Amino acid sequence: MRAYVITEPGGPDKLELKEVDQPSRRKGWVLIRNRAFGLNRSEWFTRRGDSPSVSFPRILGIECVGEVVEAPNGDLDSGQTVAAMMGGMGRQFDGSYAEYVLVPRENVFPLQTELEWGVLAALPEMLQTVNGSLYTGLEIDRAESLLVRGATSSIGFTSMALAKAAGLEITATTRNPNKSEELLKAGASYVVVDDGSIADKVRAIYPDGIDRVLELVGTTTLLDSLKATRRGGIVCMTGILGGQWTLSDFHPMGDVPTGVKLTSYSGEASDISLEQLQRYVAMVESGDLKLKTGPRFQFDRLHEAHVLMDENRANGKIVIEVG
Ligand SMILES: NC(=O)c1ccc[n+]([C@@H]2O[C@H](COP(=O)([O-])OP(=O)(O)OC[C@H]3O[C@@H](n4cnc5c(N)ncnc54)[C@H](OP(=O)(O)O)[C@@H]3O)[C@@H](O)[C@H]2O)c1
Repeated sequence: MRAYVITEPGGPDKLELKEVDQPSRRKGWVLIRNRAFGLNRSEWFTRRGDSPSVSFPRILGIECVGEVVEAPNGDLDSGQTVAAMMGGMGRQFDGSYAEYVLVPRENVFPLQTELEWGVLAALPEMLQTVNGSLYTGLEIDRAESLLVRGATSSIGFTSMALAKAAGLEITATTRNPNKSEELLKAGASYVVVDDGSIADKVRAIYPDGIDRVLELVGTTTLLDSLKATRRGGIVCMTGILGGQWTLSDFHPMGDVPTGVKLTSYSGEASDISLEQLQRYVAMVESGDLKLKTGPRFQFDRLHEAHVLMDENRANGKIVIEVG
């Protein structure tokens, strides 16, 4: 089969398209004919050598959609449409930058859908992350307002769609004022241009502070997000678009305002049920959930897709079609 193998960290050209053996059958694992996959920031980190737990050589890719070739217990028919994600895929074992992928059964979701592969592929990891961040992390069913920090990311756009559908008033951030119009069209009531310090601007809209913050930029803006949040409100750190994993000088007593709650969402396949994922897929199919997707590329143009991610020009979830 054809697969992109990375043997050392670096730029997109380090992903080398090669002929390799198909993964060998393994008890409890499902062999999938990969039809399409979404690109993820975590793969970008790994490609650059910033994922200490991943050793090379490796085939990256933490999610895919496709058809079952062989399943362990006979509980999945061959040809069944499935999504697969996480569980060490593309990190501890070879992932989806390949024509065939072998994945533990518990990370495989059989789906009923007529969505084309290129649309379906954008959904699994994105919906798992957003669903978990909004409901497990932020408990949005008890909230009225949400700040999405890093809203022009694919996770940001999807969060706005789901939170808006749940009735929340959305404030969105971008560093680029030219993207404001698009965020308003995507459902934001307010757009704040993010220069790293926006708590005062958010409090000009919500004097007592905002109910919830989905922090996608990460530790570079986290303390400012805490300042923007009302007493009893929640900040959930889900992303690190700012590129910095740690806070070097963290003083919990001073940095976390009294009564504001700080949590995180790091996400696993088991954090979304098959029923919930199927429900979202059906909503996308019926048009009840409109998600913004990004550009699609054919398999042999993966490098271009990574360049687009390097340059922050995707403007939505990038999908690679394997064919
Ligand atoms: N916890 C989980 O389970 C999980 C799962 C998936 C993804 N994530 C994380 O969620 C985040 C979003 O992922 P994604 O794939 O949706 O991202 P993406 O679509 O690639 O995000 C692109 C956007 O990021 C913003 N950005 C880039 N560099 C930035 C910086 N230094 N500071 C502030 N903003 C910056 C840019 O917005 P502007 O130019 O408009 O400001 C750009 O439009 C990532 O950190 C990713 O690792 C977490």
